[in-house]
Amino acid sequence: MNQDTKYWIVDKIVDDPSAYPQGYQFIREAAELLQKNELVAFPTETVYGLGGNALADETVEKIYEAKGRPSDNPLILHISNCKQLEPLVAEIPPLAKSLMEAFWPGPLTLVFPKKPGIAHRASAGLDTLAIRMPAHPVALALIEAAGLPVAAPSANLSGRPSPTTAQHVREDLNGRIAGILDGGATGIGVESTVVDITGNIPVILRPGGITAEQVAGIAGDVEMDPGLVNEAVAPKSPGMKYRHYAPKGEMWLIEGDTVDNMAETITRLADKARADGKKVGIMATEESAERYPAEHTVLACGKRTDLLTVAHHLYDVLRQFDERHVDLILAETFPEKGVGVAVMNRLGKAAGGKRYIC
Ligand code: TXA
Ligand code: MG
Repeated sequence: MNQDTKYWIVDKIVDDPSAYPQGYQFIREAAELLQKNELVAFPTETVYGLGGNALADETVEKIYEAKGRPSDNPLILHISNCKQLEPLVAEIPPLAKSLMEAFWPGPLTLVFPKKPGIAHRASAGLDTLAIRMPAHPVALALIEAAGLPVAAPSANLSGRPSPTTAQHVREDLNGRIAGILDGGATGIGVESTVVDITGNIPVILRPGGITAEQVAGIAGDVEMDPGLVNEAVAPKSPGMKYRHYAPKGEMWLIEGDTVDNMAETITRLADKARADGKKVGIMATEESAERYPAEHTVLACGKRTDLLTVAHHLYDVLRQFDERHVDLILAETFPEKGVGVAVMNRLGKAAGGKRYIC
């Protein structure tokens, strides 16, 4: 796989769509490539997606190949208007309608019963289909111009942290895809919430940008997939079983009742590892970064008082640890409330479940 990857900068569209007509020209070029069954990476409000025509099985095959993704892991189909939904799904349950009204466009993916015979490869042969309408002007304009449902996993090599900038996409996929639309850094920074709406109560299969509290606010009730919390149960979302989002260094999550507790333990473990010849990375926050000895690689991941900022910086910080070639990463942990559930889920995956309790 070695192709010339086009690179279009369209970030000005995000602030002022009308002032940047050339951006739309670039988006049309990208959309034409999608129509020709080529792969194009594009920004969404969560992370960058690696897009391809969802209805062409051979194109979807190329997505799996470019990412090195296990082929039993189905993709999310991205749409730009609700009319695109009907040909894809067997039904739109009332529960789905109210969630769509409340959160689309936005970081919510709904798992529908699939219309038989459609998107076989994108759904990895399941009889359900995951669909979302992203809330990013570049993503919406691209899908609209292509006139296709766009299958798009996160635009990273499988197993690497998801990309939140076009530069991250370049690091992983340059030469492997036809083009990259650079719309600047993504806003939310963690992926969409995946919700199964095929039963009476919505079930969260992957925590993300929309919180459980928000879903319950509309649906009256919400459940978490037991596979998310109990390692002995297989998760219903095939992607959740893989070690994901992983930096190259070994990573441990340090759990404690207080930040003081965590900081003391992290410092002790870091100093010991350094004495053993290891280069140590510490994932701190803006509030705590200065507490750690400067001989370690200390990176602040947002503010503890605003977990949205932690979500926003998470994957970039994990990639920075890779760039600095640390052997061991010790990470502070966060309360599992609101977007903290998604942050802790991704940290847990990145660490491969390794936790140290103070
Ligand atoms: O924010 C996002 O959702 C990003 C952006 C690009 O939209 N996309 C993304 O896609 O995260 P991906 O492929 O990295 O993750 C899709 C997740 C996987 O965990 C997959 O197993 C799950 O959705 N999924 C897809 N189809 C499913 C289905 N029919 N039933 C259950 N889970 C499904
Ligand atoms: Mg992904």
